[in-house]
Amino acid sequence: MAGTLHAHVDWHYLMYEFRQMYRFGSAGGSKPIRSHLKAVRNQLNAEMALDPAVSLPEPARLPVVDWLGRALDRGRQTPTASLVDTIDRVQHQLAWRYGYDRVPRSLQGKYAFAELMGPKGPVVSERLILGLVLLTPGCTYPSHAHDGITESYICLSGTLSENDVGVYAPGSLLYNPPNHRHRLTTGDHEPVLLAYAWSGAPERLANQKMTFKKS
Ligand SMILES: [Fe+2]
Repeated sequence: MAGTLHAHVDWHYLMYEFRQMYRFGSAGGSKPIRSHLKAVRNQLNAEMALDPAVSLPEPARLPVVDWLGRALDRGRQTPTASLVDTIDRVQHQLAWRYGYDRVPRSLQGKYAFAELMGPKGPVVSERLILGLVLLTPGCTYPSHAHDGITESYICLSGTLSENDVGVYAPGSLLYNPPNHRHRLTTGDHEPVLLAYAWSGAPERLANQKMTFKKS
């Protein structure tokens, strides 16, 4: 189904709720995080004002999607419930992917991501990538970094840790500047649903590369 964002009401509200998170979410007193929040919301404002094309992919599921129902159920009881509700509305239209030619063993069956906005859609943008990551309980997402891309994750459901520093619950934001190595682990009992935003130069966003640390 093609068209523009205004004609896809559920997708419009998904983008709207994403923007609310980046407008009203706390930067915790951090200047770099505040400027990242501002960059994401300004870019999202600009993209929404253009009424971008929406190009919905063929829906695709992976084994981890079995956990999505529980993640949404728990996410509806958190401060991020408004965004979680909009995800529920479009969940049948999402294309879940691994994104790697060879999936690391620690992630097989335990992880997938679905893009919401980016150069290839579903909401088309050359300048901002937004998406979701779903992880099972007890999952380790190996150490990786993003070249030339500033990343934030917002926890929507479950609890996780990054680089063994702190434990993050729904509403928390994790900030990863370009080339910052980060490794995620999830709690033992609940799946984790994350929203993510990638900002960077269009050529970087078009050629995004994950690099795993060999160990
Ligand atoms: Fe990352």
